[in-house]
Amino acid sequence: MEIVDSTLTINNHQVNYSEAGSHSSIAVIFIHGFPFSKEMWRNQMEALEHDFRVIAYDVRGHGRSSSGDDTFSLELFATDLVGLMNALGIEKAILSGLSMGGYIALRTIELHASRFIGLVLCDTQCVADSPESREKRIKAIASIKANGVALYAKASITNLFTEESFRNKDEIITKILNTIEQTSSETLCRTLLALSNRKETCTELHAINIPTLVIVGREDKITPITVAQQLHERIKNSTFVIIDQAGHLSNLENPVQFNSNLKLFLSQFLPDIA
Ligand code: MLT
Repeated sequence: MEIVDSTLTINNHQVNYSEAGSHSSIAVIFIHGFPFSKEMWRNQMEALEHDFRVIAYDVRGHGRSSSGDDTFSLELFATDLVGLMNALGIEKAILSGLSMGGYIALRTIELHASRFIGLVLCDTQCVADSPESREKRIKAIASIKANGVALYAKASITNLFTEESFRNKDEIITKILNTIEQTSSETLCRTLLALSNRKETCTELHAINIPTLVIVGREDKITPITVAQQLHERIKNSTFVIIDQAGHLSNLENPVQFNSNLKLFLSQFLPDIA
């Protein structure tokens, strides 16, 4: 099967998305972290395309999606996601979001619960920014405006991966560095502001009653194990998995362990052919 890239106009902006698998299969929609692109999910799309309709899209301003004029917010990103589902004729889907992708998934499920049948939360959290985190984002915006994107990209990469990945996974690191560098300063600043203003979703986790998988890299410095554990404890019947030899981008750093857990979780949605 082939992964095909297309563009649709949703809420006054161009959404670029990749798609593979049969339209009659259950849809799994992947949402990338900040400031990355849908390309980060390619390996998972390839692993699942035979059994699922797999879709990964670029969040506003990221990758090959345009940014539009609306003020960025998690609520706008949630509206975009549901708009994409409507345009693709997807009534119900399984969502898989990493970090910012997880924030978007949680906000969308809170607002449109009936549209989702399963949830995968990777290296993410439910809390809002602390005053210190907000301050850091405001400083990052000032620094991007003053010094450009390259310096920001170089600084932000340091927290993303394990020491081992920095030694042995040059290709992945270079790819992510390039993705950040190719993101416009305007998108970086607008998204940083949106992330700093996001509301917490912790108090709504009790309402999630669809099968949920919580995944975290053992060495995730940005959203560590303790933070992922909170999601697991608050979402009833959720499954919790720690990925070895992985930091914040667990699907990229250890795709073998990540994919086997993802496939095992998703197998409950497949028709029983026994
Ligand atoms: C991400 O990977 O999406 C970011 O670390 C999220 C954030 O900055 O809060």
